[in-house]
Amino acid sequence: MSRWLLVYDGYDPDSEGVREALCTLGNGYFATRGAQPEATADGVHYPGTYVAGCYDRLTSDVAGRTVVNEDLVNAPNWLPLTLRIGDGPWLGPADLASPSALLSYRQELDLRRGVLTRLLRFTDAAGRVTRMAQRRIVSMEDPHLAALETTIVPENWSGDLEIRSALDGRVSNSGVARYRLLNGAHLVPGGEGENGAEAVWLSCRTATSGVEIALAARTRVDAAAKRTTREERGWISQDLLVEAEEGVPVTVEKVAALFTSRDRAIEEPAKAARTRVDRAAGFDGLLERHTLAWGRLWRRCRLSVDGEDVQRVLNLHMFHLLQTVSEHTVDLDVGVPARGLHGEAYRGHIFWDELFVLPFLTLRFPEIARSLLLYRSRRLPEARWAAREAGRRGAMYPWQSGGDGREETQWLHLNPRSGRWLPDHSHLQRHVGLAVALNVWRFYEATGDAEFLAEYGAEMLLEIARFFAGLATYSRGLDRYEIRGVMGPDEYHDGYPGREEPGLDNNAYTNVLAVWVLCRALDVLAVLPGDRRDELVERLGLAREEIARMEDVSRTMAIPFHDGVLSQFEGYADLDELDWDGYRRRYGDIRRLDRILEAEGDSPNRYKASKQADVLMLFHLLSREELDDVLTRLGHVPAPDLMERTIAYYLPRTCHGSTLSSLVHAWLMARVDGEEAWHLFLESLDSDIGDSQHGTTAEGVHLGAMAGTVNLVQRCHAGVTTQGTVLHLAPRLPAGIGRLRLGLRYRGNWGVDLSLSQDRLRVALHPGVASPIEVACGAETVTIEPGAAWETPLANGRLPEQPAGGR
Ligand code: BGC
Repeated sequence: MSRWLLVYDGYDPDSEGVREALCTLGNGYFATRGAQPEATADGVHYPGTYVAGCYDRLTSDVAGRTVVNEDLVNAPNWLPLTLRIGDGPWLGPADLASPSALLSYRQELDLRRGVLTRLLRFTDAAGRVTRMAQRRIVSMEDPHLAALETTIVPENWSGDLEIRSALDGRVSNSGVARYRLLNGAHLVPGGEGENGAEAVWLSCRTATSGVEIALAARTRVDAAAKRTTREERGWISQDLLVEAEEGVPVTVEKVAALFTSRDRAIEEPAKAARTRVDRAAGFDGLLERHTLAWGRLWRRCRLSVDGEDVQRVLNLHMFHLLQTVSEHTVDLDVGVPARGLHGEAYRGHIFWDELFVLPFLTLRFPEIARSLLLYRSRRLPEARWAAREAGRRGAMYPWQSGGDGREETQWLHLNPRSGRWLPDHSHLQRHVGLAVALNVWRFYEATGDAEFLAEYGAEMLLEIARFFAGLATYSRGLDRYEIRGVMGPDEYHDGYPGREEPGLDNNAYTNVLAVWVLCRALDVLAVLPGDRRDELVERLGLAREEIARMEDVSRTMAIPFHDGVLSQFEGYADLDELDWDGYRRRYGDIRRLDRILEAEGDSPNRYKASKQADVLMLFHLLSREELDDVLTRLGHVPAPDLMERTIAYYLPRTCHGSTLSSLVHAWLMARVDGEEAWHLFLESLDSDIGDSQHGTTAEGVHLGAMAGTVNLVQRCHAGVTTQGTVLHLAPRLPAGIGRLRLGLRYRGNWGVDLSLSQDRLRVALHPGVASPIEVACGAETVTIEPGAAWETPLANGRLPEQPAGGR
């Protein structure tokens, strides 16, 4: 396999869901799973199409309770295309599942051009052998268009060949088995009809959010065809009957357009879809423009390593990231759904995962990163309302966000192992707001976009800081501020054994990051131009006492320690040790330890056992200096080996129930043990392509982990961080990577090229770059002029004088 091809040989129903997710094609406006065009949702296949930001809310009765859930809506399916020979049966997935009927099968995803190809040969009961080749795109050039080209060759027969090309609006959200008790009927049929001789259209409306979604499809065949249109409510097809001749290919071309009432510059979605297919070029024309658009994207994503297998997965990860958020997203009001536009897990909601996505985008597509931050900015009023309802000032961002930014976290979740519906307290992950604030600041550092900061960023940062300053309560006993009753990133701990109310006290991750954010809020007040600052302070009604409190909390927040390491939360030290070996022996895979323990009538709350990196996230997000600054500010004397000790403590107590976990650990291990880090890096590359969480990839890719691996190469292997106005480089290049080349955009400057090998680091600026950049590398800070390059020796992929820990 090449660096740009994902290939599946043979058909395997058990892995069909994973293939569908990994072969999803999209353009940041909408995406369609790589399902077979002749399939409907049947337990093996799930042809889902998702439009960015198109949500709908429905009520369901489960476990004796009425629950309300907002879903990213599975939009009408534009794909359906099947055929029959003579008056035989329509070709369906079952025919292809039979080994005697399916003679060969191959799927190829071309990552460079964004083309999914399917090649198959099959025979029917009468021994007629047919060859078929299908190519599919979801246009990266025109975000409303998709196309499917099918070439059919009758190998040993001649006669009637009928092709059915349909639009299916009778789909629901049913892609995730454990959500099936929930109401998924989001689409209300609107209308359908013909559009000239070659095309049909269909429209529907989401049940409660009232978004009109319209599809139109034009189907052409390169032979004389008799055409019949059939329609039922929510479904329309065209059947094309042709005289097929042995050995002569018949090519069918379906071009589809999708619009919604959220789109701009249209009169009405169905009309827009009909006009767009009328005007669309043929498959080859669309493919050409689409390929050019992908070429432009890849030029901005230059990242290459020597190892072909590693490169392919990195390409796959960038590919899916750019299919979820692209330049077509910039004009939309959408965030980063944790599972991409690739499936229905987590209902298309937006968590803190953009933390892993933005560093990649910011240094390549700052305009996309900015638009994702604006998604948060537009939901500031809702976050303010949530804070107010909780009796606080400032902004309390929701753990799960969707359409309007209210809290979308479910109140109950199903443990499929025990069959029990359980209370879900994960909305107590208040740290999501801290991630938003951190993203704002990092974006500002990397782009120098002072206008964004003044217009939007500062307000979010200050409102989030304000919320945390208020959330912290003063403890007379400790003579420090505390944050009580929250959850950290580790979702396996949501309370104390024996304590009725959920939540934990002084989660180290939350408290430390809150202090860091409070400091940045104070910085913001210092960096904003005086008039802008005064305006903002006036608008927010930010009183002098509140600023004084931010300062006070940032100097006296409680941070728990035990055994010389940061405690995940207050009382963590008193929990029992889990019998890790025993559980591994008994269950093998213990990543979902929460489900295992609950099914046994036990709870992870009793044990020193984490789902994912929690405390350790601090070392991931903050540089050593930044963390030391926070701890010193709080009156602690950080031990020089604090990070190494903390990693050594938590790593064996973590079961990686989230794909984000091995990624963060890989990153951290790179600072202490290159060998182990490399192993963990390869493991995190495998998250989706190897479906390492057993079945979860089929429900949508793990976008945070995907982007995180690319980010790891950038921030850890190449050692690129942005702080202040300086590009910092502290490489840790694993030998397994070979040479690494990266192209970046830094503070508005296109064309910053890095190349690294085990013994050399080179930074070059294209001649067209507007201004010099400052680069800090070890003890040296240099200014590189446009058109110039700078080199420094490395020893085993590191700066010779680089300490073991480093940034
Ligand atoms: C993880 C969260 C993550 C979410 C969405 C959960 O399993 O625990 O940290 O944000 O998945 O990716």
